[in-house]
Amino acid sequence: MLPKKATIVEVGARDGLQNEKLTVPTGDKIRFIDLLSESGLRWIEATSFVRPKAIPQLADAAEVFSGIRKAPGVRYPVLVPNLKGYERAKGCGADAIAVFTAASEAFTRRNINMTIEESIVTFADVIRRAKSDGLWVRGYVSTAFGSPFGDVVTPQAVRDVCIRLVELGCDEISVGDTIGVGVPSQVEELVPLLAHAISLDRLALHFHDTRGTALANIYAALQQGVHIFDSSAGGLGGCPYAPGATGNVGTEDVLYMLHGMSIETGVDLAKVRAASRFIRGVIDHDLTSKAFHALEATEARVLLGR
Ligand code: HMG
Ligand code: MG
Repeated sequence: MLPKKATIVEVGARDGLQNEKLTVPTGDKIRFIDLLSESGLRWIEATSFVRPKAIPQLADAAEVFSGIRKAPGVRYPVLVPNLKGYERAKGCGADAIAVFTAASEAFTRRNINMTIEESIVTFADVIRRAKSDGLWVRGYVSTAFGSPFGDVVTPQAVRDVCIRLVELGCDEISVGDTIGVGVPSQVEELVPLLAHAISLDRLALHFHDTRGTALANIYAALQQGVHIFDSSAGGLGGCPYAPGATGNVGTEDVLYMLHGMSIETGVDLAKVRAASRFIRGVIDHDLTSKAFHALEATEARVLLGR
C-alpha cells in the first residue's frame, strides 16, 4: 500500500543556490521563490542564515527573506546553524527554521566546525528559543547513506542522531543522502529503524541524485509509508562541504513519478517548470531534471505543431 498523498519540500532556493559557482542576484532569488510560491508547494526553503564566509552565495539571506512574497498557506523555513543565525532569521520574521547536523563526524566538522555532540548542544539552545518563540523546527541529519570522507555511517548512528533531535523538540526530521550514494536496500533497512523513533508524519527524506538512484530510493521509501520528500526545482543543489555532491532529485522528476502513480501532491508541475525555466536563464549551466527537459521538449513540439 503506497501513500495516497505526499508532501514536497522544495529546497532549490537554498540547497540549490548555495552550490552555484556564480552568486545569483538577490532579485532573481526573490523572483525564483515567488514563482515557486505560485505552484501549490506548501513548503519552500528560502535561504540560510549561516556564516556568510562559509556560504557566500547566501550572504543576502535577510534581503531575500524580507523580499519574497509570503503566499498564504506556504511556509518558508530557513537554515540556522547557531544562535547568531537564529537572531538574524527571527529579526527578519522567519517562523520556521531548520538546524542541521549529520551522522558522519568528519562531515559535521567540515560543514559546521563542530562535533556531532557539540552541534546537539548548540541546537538545544536554538530549539529552546525557537519553541518558546512559537517557531516550527526541522532537524536535518546529513550523510545518512554515506560520508564523502570515507568514515563509516551505520543506520544505528543515523537513528541515534535523529532521536537526539526529536528529544530536543524538532517538529520534523529530514534524513539526507548528501552525496547521493544511497540505494533502495539501504532505504529498506533504515526507514523501519527510524519509524520506531519518529512518526512517519514527521520524517522527510532528502535525496541528492548524484548516482541516479534518488527516484528508486523514493519509491522504496513510499513502500515503507514515507510521504515527505525534499527536492529541488530543476535538480539544482549540492553542499560545498561535501566533495562530489551534485543536485537534489529534481522536483519535476518527483512530481512526474508521484502524479503518474496517482499520489497527490497539490503541486502544479507546469508552474514548477516555469520557476525552473526562469532560474535556468540566470545560472551558467543547464538543469539536470530529466522530467523538466522532457516536458519542455514536448511543449515545444506541441507549440510548433509537430
Ligand atoms: P565558525 O567559524 O566555527 O563560527 O563557523 P564561530 O562561532 O567561531 O564564529 C566565527 C565568525 O562567524 C564570528 O564573526 C561570528 O560572529 C560569525 P567575527 O567575530 O569573526 O566577525 N558567525 C556568523 N555570522 C553570521 N551568521 C551566523 C554566524 N555564525 C557565526 N549564523 C558555523 C561555524 C556553523 C557558523 C559555520 O561553519 C557555518 O555557517 N556553516 C554553514 C555551512 C553550510 O551552510 N553548509 C550547507 C548547508 S548543510 C547541507 O547543505 C546539507 C542539507 O542539504 C542536507 C543534506 O543534503 O544532507 C541540509
Ligand atoms: Mg542537501
